[in-house]
Amino acid sequence: AAGDAAAGEKIAKTKCAACHTFETGGANKVGPNLFGVTTRGTGKAANFAYSPLYTAAAAKMASWDAASLDAYLTDPTKTLTEKAGEAKGASKMTFKLPSADDRANVIAYLETLK
Ligand code: HEM
Repeated sequence: AAGDAAAGEKIAKTKCAACHTFETGGANKVGPNLFGVTTRGTGKAANFAYSPLYTAAAAKMASWDAASLDAYLTDPTKTLTEKAGEAKGASKMTFKLPSADDRANVIAYLETLK
């Protein structure tokens, strides 16, 4: 089902903002700035050191879409390992969002950031 971007913004502010900023030109924190994450392509936050596993997955995945983000937010390391096709350690993002509704809403919010 399509997510609710307004509900997703609240989730982002409470569950993701410790590690991510969302505004254009926002700083990287523990995680990369997420403005344009669905349109800029993978691995594109300026001056952010992605993990080797992320980099291996991004080499085979040009951009994020709703399906790949849903898988990633369910289990980042498992999803990046599947995309990379080989094990290269772990994602630097250990956080998981287990609720499918929360994932759909936060993905709808991420899709507005462009
Ligand atoms: C990466 C989303 C919570 C740390 C990412 C990426 C997305 C994302 C889409 C890939 C960015 C890109 O391709 O440039 C989210 C969302 C969250 C969340 C929607 C909340 C629901 C967190 C939290 C932390 C975190 C709480 C820290 C405790 C990271 C790190 C990376 C990352 C370190 C880089 C992964 C790597 O290089 O392996 N996140 N995140 N995230 N996130 Fe999150």
